Parts: sequence; structure tokens; C-alpha cells
Amino acid sequence: MKKIRENLLTEIPGPMSKQMIKLREKYIPRGVFNTVPSIIQKAKDALITDIDGNTFIDFASGLASTNVGHSRKEIAEALKEQVDKFLHTCFHVFMYEPYIQLAQKLAEITPGDFPKKTMFVNSGAEAVENAIKIARNFTKRKAVVTFEHAFHGRTLLTMSLTSKLRYYKLGFGPFAPEVYRMPYAYPYRCPFGKEYSNSAVACLDHFRSFFKTHVDPEEIAAVIVEPVTGEGGFIVPPPEFLPGIARICEDNGIVFIVDEVQTGFGRTGEMFAVNHYNLEPDIMVMGKSIASGLPLGAVTGRAEIMDAPEVGSLGGTFGGNPLSCVASLKVIEIMQRDGFMEHARKVGSIINERLKEMLEKYAIVGDARGLGAMAAIELVKDRATKEPAKEDTAEVLKQCHKNGLVLMKAGAYDNVVRILAPLIITEDLLLRGLDILEKAVIRVNNTIETKKPRTKGVKLV
Ligand SMILES: Cc1ncc(COP(=O)(O)O)c(C=O)c1O
Repeated sequence: MKKIRENLLTEIPGPMSKQMIKLREKYIPRGVFNTVPSIIQKAKDALITDIDGNTFIDFASGLASTNVGHSRKEIAEALKEQVDKFLHTCFHVFMYEPYIQLAQKLAEITPGDFPKKTMFVNSGAEAVENAIKIARNFTKRKAVVTFEHAFHGRTLLTMSLTSKLRYYKLGFGPFAPEVYRMPYAYPYRCPFGKEYSNSAVACLDHFRSFFKTHVDPEEIAAVIVEPVTGEGGFIVPPPEFLPGIARICEDNGIVFIVDEVQTGFGRTGEMFAVNHYNLEPDIMVMGKSIASGLPLGAVTGRAEIMDAPEVGSLGGTFGGNPLSCVASLKVIEIMQRDGFMEHARKVGSIINERLKEMLEKYAIVGDARGLGAMAAIELVKDRATKEPAKEDTAEVLKQCHKNGLVLMKAGAYDNVVRILAPLIITEDLLLRGLDILEKAVIRVNNTIETKKPRTKGVKLV
């Protein structure tokens, strides 16, 4: 098999990229972070080519945004057609068909056989902001419950809902009030020291007791949760966790908001991650892969909740712009075709199998977990203490980038290597990418002390 390293013509970054990076350093603030030290020229399906002619296998999908692959011809064609018609009117000024057609489509494909309505915005964070705004207006309550390891965005409210301090919150306070945080069922690092399912039970018990000690449920407008944490490290909670939260919401008249910004649109092997649990959220927020890289966020919810805010109280200049809506309609059409989800599931099972093998083989891999093609390994210095291997994780990423694989980290301790390959990736390319990852893991594994007793890994979901 041809080695992908052969596709790298130069060291990373190559001379052309180096020049551009110098300008980037001069004109763009350092806080705007980058992962791969190179500049793209073009991308197709699961491959990215930089301006120096190097080709990379993509295991990041533009941060989970190109699940249908880069540069889909039919999406480009639909966009060109729209460009020739009109670019912008603002939906509040002059309505257009793609906004309305996409709202109808989302009502059909999101779970729940009840009337639903959708508003569109420009990003995941904006979708979360609006979901909370609507839930507060509907319930006439103020408090919001979020979770440890949550990530919901970088605006004031979504940053307040987010859990990780560095690099999302540190130095950016004060934060929005009336935000309460509950433990997330994280089997590998259970906050209550429990094993697998008991971790969910303990977290849910804690939730109920918190109603007595922190805030009365009658004050809580909404609970917002990610079905699998994204930036928080791809934590897959035990199957009891999400239904338990849904029940708590239902029992207490709390709006149950599910953030599917990263998990949605096939990433977990279902259109939405909540489909795995047969859940019907009151409101679902979506973004990222919804429009294959064009800026779009959506808030879809029960019609009576979505209609609570009065006329004129929801919106924005560019929300649901025609190009994004057209792209999204195409994305959904592609995903509903025969074979798309089957392939996505196959991609997920190949990745999870391979990560499980790495868990068996290499002491530095403390946990391997995943739901569909949303999969990760958590690296630790010592399996007994589970001390996070942050520097080794950075080294794994660096080695992967050097060898032609685009890969990102995640997690509160910066020790999770997450895989977000486009769902259309071919088996051949996927295996080549996993080979590059495994080689990088072996390299760091060999540099740590491996003679310590092996503790048992957590079961893959
Ligand atoms: C679960 C989740 N919610 C919200 C967001 C924020 O989306 P955006 O970056 O489009 O504002 C993200 C982004 O990573 C996310 O993963």
C-alpha cells in the first residue's frame, strides 16, 4: 500500500505555507488558534492539499462540519444556481423559499411526531443562545442547568454554559448569571467513583438532590446537554443518562434542550445522537455539518415553545442565509440516500475496533470510546492513576500532522485524541489514517514507562 507520507512533498510547514504563516502571525491575534501548521489550497472528499502540494488525510472535517466530505459537486452546483438568483435579502425583509423548505425538512427529520418550528442563525453558539432565550420566554423561568465537560460556544451565555476553563473561560468573566452545573456521566473518570451504568445513576441522583439544595425546579427554564460531549472529550455517557435527564425535565416542566451541534448529521451513525436513545427533545440545536461548512445554526423545537416569543423578538441580519439553507437541503438529501448512513456506521465500527485494539496494546491509551464515527482515545501517563498525558497527546498530534494526517485534541485535560473523519471516507484512506495515528501512539508509548500493571479499560459503547 502506498504510504501517505509519500504525498508530503515538503516538511510541514512547506516554504509557501511558512511565508503565509508569517503574515498570519503579524495580522491575526494568537488567540485565534490553529491546529495544522500549513495553509490549504484545496480539499476534496477526505483529502486536503496545501499550497506546497502536500496532501493530508482529513480526520477533523473542519471541526465536524464536513460530514458529507469536502467540495461535493452537487452542493457546489446548488450553490452556484442560488448565487445566480440572489445572495441576500434578510429573511425579515423579504422571505425566500430555502429558509422555509429547510424548516419543513428539519421538522420531518428531527425526532418527535408533533408540530415543530425552526429558526435559523449563523452558528452553533447563536443557536444555543436562542434556544435558551426561547425556553426562558416560554417557561417564564430564569435558571439554566448545564453539565461538567460541556461546550456550547464562545459568546457570553454559551461560554458561561461551557465547562472547560482554559482556553474557553479563563480571563473572560464575569459570566452570565443563573447557570447551574451538574456532573456528566463520565464512566472513565466518574465523579462519584462508580463503574459504568452506576455512574449515570449516581449523576442522576445528584441531580435530584440538587433540587433541594441549590435551585428549585420551578425556577429552571431549561436543561441543556450534549448527547456525547464534543470539545469536552467525546465522553459517551451510559445509555441510562440522557433518558434520565429527559425524565427529570418532563417531571418538572423544564425544557429539555439537546445540543446536537457536533453529534448531529450522521456523526454517531444516526441522523441525530438522540435517535440512539429514542428521545424527543423539546428543543434541538444544530450547526456544523448541517450545511457542509457554510455558516448555519438551527433551533428546532415544539411549535408551542418556539412560538412563545412575540413577533419581532427572534432573528438577525444573516440568520439562515439563502446559500447556507440551499447547502443544508442538499446535505440532508445526500444523507437520506440509500447507503449513506450504512457507510457512516461502517466507518464508525472500523475506527472503534482499531481504537479498542490500541487500548489493548498500548499502556498510554487509558480509554477508547465512541458512538459511531465520533470516537476518541484518552492518553494517560499511568493507567492506575489515570494522570492525563497532555504533552504526549500534543506529540501524537504533531507526529500525525508531520505524517499527513489532520487530527485534533479535546477534553478538559487536553489528553483526548478525537477522530472526526468525513463520513464518506473510503475504507482504504481510513485505514491509512489510522496507521499514521497508531504509529504516533507507538512512538509516545515507547517513551513512557510501560511496566506498570494494566487496569481494565472501559467498555466501548
Ligand atoms: C456541542 C457544541 N455546541 C456548540 C458549539 C458552538 O458552535 P459554533 O462554533 O458554530 O458557534 C460547538 C462548537 O464546537 C459544539 O461542539
